[in-house]
Amino acid sequence: MSKVTVIGAGNVGATVANVLAHKDIVKEIVLVDIVGDLARGKALDTWQQAPIDNYSTFLTGTSDYKDTANSDIVVITAGIPRKPGMSRDDLISTNANIVISVVKSVLEYSKNPIIIVVSNPLDVMTYAAFKASGLDRSRVFGMAGVLDTARYRAFLASELKVSPKDIQALLLGGHGDTMVPLPRYTTVSGIPVTELIEPDVLNAIVDRTKSGGGELVKLMGTSAWYAPGAAAAQMVEAIVKDENRIFPVCAHLNGQYGLKDIFVGVPVKLGKNGIESIIELKLNNDEKALLQESANAVKEVMDVFDKM
Ligand code: APR
Repeated sequence: MSKVTVIGAGNVGATVANVLAHKDIVKEIVLVDIVGDLARGKALDTWQQAPIDNYSTFLTGTSDYKDTANSDIVVITAGIPRKPGMSRDDLISTNANIVISVVKSVLEYSKNPIIIVVSNPLDVMTYAAFKASGLDRSRVFGMAGVLDTARYRAFLASELKVSPKDIQALLLGGHGDTMVPLPRYTTVSGIPVTELIEPDVLNAIVDRTKSGGGELVKLMGTSAWYAPGAAAAQMVEAIVKDENRIFPVCAHLNGQYGLKDIFVGVPVKLGKNGIESIIELKLNNDEKALLQESANAVKEVMDVFDKM
């Protein structure tokens, strides 16, 4: 029975805690925020939902890292969200300082946790967490691809008027406008999506997916939380249940896909040890070029971080 800590009790963090509690698969969730009463309030609210929705996962909120001691998994959502007109990269210096201090505080009380980063700009915040933690690369990774493929699958389901359950999809690259949805690896109950949707319509869906986060920022004045929170909770579930699920995850590459010392989204097998393995696809030249372009964009932001 696991202990999961969620750092940041804002929109995304509170949703991770709430969705995860509903899965009833972990013993305890600790919600941490610098605003301690916010964490305490949201944890108490979700605990009071337990008798209604039938789960036993116990939730507490705190601003004291002592309460996070011996966490198996830590989800980091602390940081500022995007406002209209901001790119994810605009958040870099503020959120990097937050993520680094959070990681250091977490590691004072938990020796070898698995860390899932959600704060943006995602790829670089994951890199910052990895460097600050000194943990193995299999234990520090970021949530982006599960969300981005969910958006892609939802758009495809709307277009085809089918259940999103039946849409399987894969996506590579950074969590930004250069992400690479892969129509060649997208199927609807086994049927290649390219047989069901005309190329121009499919391209429009791919483009909408790439700016899917921005679409919501425009609508709501802040970034999304329901699907991001559920996506992080699904990754926690795969680890806690040792499911060996295959998800696109922001992972440290060490030569895979011809990329070295960079964090970008690739398909991985997720199980009890975190990233059990990275799966290398046989990309065609166009896909390789798009991934390289995305990696270059991530590297630029990583360089900004390295010079900070
Ligand atoms: N330690 C703990 N919590 C912190 C810290 C810190 N050092 N700094 C900020 N926080 C908390 C804030 O107090 C706030 O409650 O992080 C929370 C962030 O919540 P929101 O402002 O609601 O932002 P949210 O929409 O949840 O997004 C959080 O996730 O998806 C990404 O781009 C998004 O980077 C952003 C992050």
